[in-house]
Amino acid sequence: MDPLPTAHSGPRKKRPRQMGALMSSTPQDVKFRDLVLFILEKKMGTSRRAFLMELARSKGFRVENELSDSVTHIVAENNSGSDVLEWLQVQNIKASSQLEFLDISWLVECMGAGKPVQTTGKHQLVVRRDHPPSSNPGLQNTLPQTAQKISQYACERRTTLNNWNHVFTDALDILAENSEFRENESCCLAFMRASSVLKSLPFTVSSMKDTEGIPCLGDKVKCIIEEIIEDGESSEVKAVLNDERYQSFKLFTSVFGVGLKTSEKWFQMGFRTLSKVRSDKSLKFTRMQKAGFLYYEDLVSSVTKAEAEAVSMLVKEAVRTFLPSALVTLTGGFRRGKKIGHDVDFLITSPEVTEEKEQQLLHQVTNLWEKKGLLLYCDHVESTFEKLKLPSRKVDALDHFQKCFLILKLDHQRVNSDQSSQQEGKTWKAIRVDLVMCPYERRAFALLGWTGSRQFERDLRRYATHERKMMLDNHALYDKAKRIFLKAESEEEIFAHLGLDYIEPWERNA
Ligand code: CTP
Ligand code: MN
Ligand code: MN
Repeated sequence: MDPLPTAHSGPRKKRPRQMGALMSSTPQDVKFRDLVLFILEKKMGTSRRAFLMELARSKGFRVENELSDSVTHIVAENNSGSDVLEWLQVQNIKASSQLEFLDISWLVECMGAGKPVQTTGKHQLVVRRDHPPSSNPGLQNTLPQTAQKISQYACERRTTLNNWNHVFTDALDILAENSEFRENESCCLAFMRASSVLKSLPFTVSSMKDTEGIPCLGDKVKCIIEEIIEDGESSEVKAVLNDERYQSFKLFTSVFGVGLKTSEKWFQMGFRTLSKVRSDKSLKFTRMQKAGFLYYEDLVSSVTKAEAEAVSMLVKEAVRTFLPSALVTLTGGFRRGKKIGHDVDFLITSPEVTEEKEQQLLHQVTNLWEKKGLLLYCDHVESTFEKLKLPSRKVDALDHFQKCFLILKLDHQRVNSDQSSQQEGKTWKAIRVDLVMCPYERRAFALLGWTGSRQFERDLRRYATHERKMMLDNHALYDKAKRIFLKAESEEEIFAHLGLDYIEPWERNA
């Protein structure tokens, strides 16, 4: 029988706190020094909490009044693990990876036994997963997040935009970028993977102990994390930010159409500023770079959600003029819930369309915009898609769909916003837009591939190859053992084929 009073039902009266009952136990009363409990008041109520705290202390348990770093076990009643996590986040309290979330039933058993009992699955509070797993049902769902091993693959983690480890990931992203500029691929990958795994943690790393059991953190990365914990900054990052090569590459690649090769050339020629590059008579620029310089200010200022929505209207209007049955889906960062982006990405497809019509659509759309004076830059890439081609082995391979990379002139009037980002006199903004057209039966693969993030995509492919003996790209999924293509009508089906829990777009910000 439950020896404890049950929680109050019905409306609760607010009573003044009984301070006597809430006093911490003195050290000599504590019999079990390895455990530090905190009992959550939420859904339990003040008086029941006070009673339980008193009872636990009388049995020799250390129970804290406030949540602090020393707490090892949070005990809650009528709360799921997700509820507890949410509460912690609202309070702006970081949960360390060591912290256990336990149901009141555990404390009840401890009280009965007069000592701590082993915490098992039935006591551990489950951090909710919004979708049932597609494979091995039960197992994943019954384990609380704290007990789950963090996967080395981003596609087995949930990464929302709520990043608890900005101080570390900002530093690692700079180091990854610097490695990219120096074409040090293995270093770049190591920094990107480390940053990605930290972005998925539901707590802030505050000591090196917190990094135990987290994959993708090599010795070098751990040194950087340690330095940031101790000094608040990394000397290596500071050096990179002051490095001439880094600064120049960062500046040059901010121009649309300028990649590593061009940056290297300009850097070697001694250029350090864009105005010097721009005014140099001996340099030849591609059409893309010319557009990049012409609309530089607009293109470096991020695209807002409101602007993305205005572009979305524009794209839908134009596409449906020529193909009423077309489906236009916003992809890329905005589909992942980002508030800003460097461009706006769309996937276009239609259930009823001839190959000829399909081939023409993007051209018709850009011709229409051209006539209206809305097309500032346009680069069409024709399809090289082949139905029977096996998925690419490369994790960063470009896809074969027909697409166009554009710069559109977006009238401020079309944007539903508070006008704050608008320049005096100029009535429009240049916006980078990517349109991709895919065959209807490939839409799930194309959508998954164009939603990103890049790291998420890379890890999906790596996972398919190494864990499932399958090949995945933006067009198809191929089972190498069975030698068959696996069809999918939705992203959910692709995750299911791969034996992965479904990860929502907003959880793919790896
Ligand atoms: N992508 C692709 N092939 C390309 C370009 C992009 O498959 N040639 C995919 C990438 O996987 C990427 C997604 O399309 O995740 C969107 O690309 P991009 O616009 O570069 O990145 P976003 O994640 O949208 O970031 P941002 O908000 O900065 O635009
Ligand atoms: Mn994008
Ligand atoms: Mn893009």
